Amino acid sequence: MRLAGKVAIVTGGGSGIGRGIVLAMAREGADIAIPDIQVLNAEKVADEVKGLGRRVLAMKTDVTSSADVKAMIERTRESLGRIDVLVNNAGMAAPPGMPFTNNTEEDWDRAFAVNTKSVFLTCKAIAPYFIERRGGRIVNIASIAGPLAAATMPAYSVAKQGVITFTRVVARELAPHGVTVNAICPGVLYTEFWQKLAAHIAETNPAFKGMSPRQVFEKRVADIVPMKCEQTPEDIGWAAVFLASDEARYVTGQALMVDGGCVMH
Ligand SMILES: NC(=O)c1ccc[n+]([C@@H]2O[C@H](COP(=O)([O-])OP(=O)(O)OC[C@H]3O[C@@H](n4cnc5c(N)ncnc54)[C@H](O)[C@@H]3O)[C@@H](O)[C@H]2O)c1
Repeated sequence: MRLAGKVAIVTGGGSGIGRGIVLAMAREGADIAIPDIQVLNAEKVADEVKGLGRRVLAMKTDVTSSADVKAMIERTRESLGRIDVLVNNAGMAAPPGMPFTNNTEEDWDRAFAVNTKSVFLTCKAIAPYFIERRGGRIVNIASIAGPLAAATMPAYSVAKQGVITFTRVVARELAPHGVTVNAICPGVLYTEFWQKLAAHIAETNPAFKGMSPRQVFEKRVADIVPMKCEQTPEDIGWAAVFLASDEARYVTGQALMVDGGCVMH
């Protein structure tokens, strides 16, 4: 029970990777808040958390809205009594891809709002509380798309690299206050995110014409993942548990690749 007695917020915890992080943290003893724009999904995952014997709060939150984010932090403190861990997981795939000249201004604004500005808003809202308590953990879910500069999603790649850089900026600023801030970069996971992306790739890229989303995904894994096998949300969940645990007290400002070896420095 590495997170016994702790309270964790997992944004976008109603599906995919977020659900994997929620369940891993709840299994390790944490009570959980699940702010998600799709509140019905958050409520379903909340039922699973209750089944594990933990307290849980599901709520509708748009992480691109500063008012929603502030209200979410306040509600979590009121209902669950404290906050120890913030996981910024909510995000979205943002095609179209190459050539980047096909992207619109709106594509870039949306990619940044959901994937990057949201992390700024939640960190800004929670920092005074963590500073006052002299402790706290922030885990930001970035992506290998940042370091790889994935041409399939230019705006998304830049937005996720921005998450990694912002992680380091906040880690430096909050380090003297006993707060650690790290990023996790997942590789390729067959969540709703990738199902939609694969459908788009099959429609728009002649090399994938006629393939099902699942076939596009499997080809991607075979092409770019050295371990040649699929990863799961639990892989990200356990990495997030480690970064939130006492064992990781001296780890800060890092971007941990959990990707089967796609990115090696
Ligand atoms: N699936 C992958 O291959 C992959 C790879 C690398 C990184 N990631 C990142 O992992 C994170 C989770 O992705 P996933 O694959 O589980 O996707 P997903 O689409 O299954 O889940 C995303 C979750 O975020 C929520 N969300 C979206 N916009 C929101 C908003 N404005 N406010 C609040 N909640 C919002 C959704 O409702 C959903 O529950 C994202 O940040 C994504 O960029 C995914």
